[in-house]
Amino acid sequence: MKILRISHLGIASPTLAEAMERLDRIFGLKQEHIEEVADQKVRTAFYPIGESTLEYLESTDPEGPVGKFLEKKGPGIHHLAFEVDDVDAAVQELLDKGIRMIDKVPRKGAHGNRIAFIHPAETGGVLIEVCQPEKH
Ligand code: CO
Repeated sequence: MKILRISHLGIASPTLAEAMERLDRIFGLKQEHIEEVADQKVRTAFYPIGESTLEYLESTDPEGPVGKFLEKKGPGIHHLAFEVDDVDAAVQELLDKGIRMIDKVPRKGAHGNRIAFIHPAETGGVLIEVCQPEKH
């Protein structure tokens, strides 16, 4: 697979309001937009920084993946995302290597990306997403 850049860092926060206030107060950063990803049971605030983006994640359901993460680990970095040139090929390559995947087929993520998560047991405890912007 060809990794093009670090697309984004996902950061779990109890509330977006709290995260947004803090980012503004400390760094003067304003979010680009807020999006709800029903599938993932999160609301996300995007902060583009250079070639990457910070994605603050607020859980909309304690049983969702970010809700469970917050319960278990508390606020902090939730995942790291690599942008690849071809997410279907990347997922196939990982499956062919016997890498355990959370998503065996890419699905729709936030910000018009197609995404797939690698199981964190494979990556030293860091949840890694491979993603590719959807073609418009
Ligand atoms: Co992500």
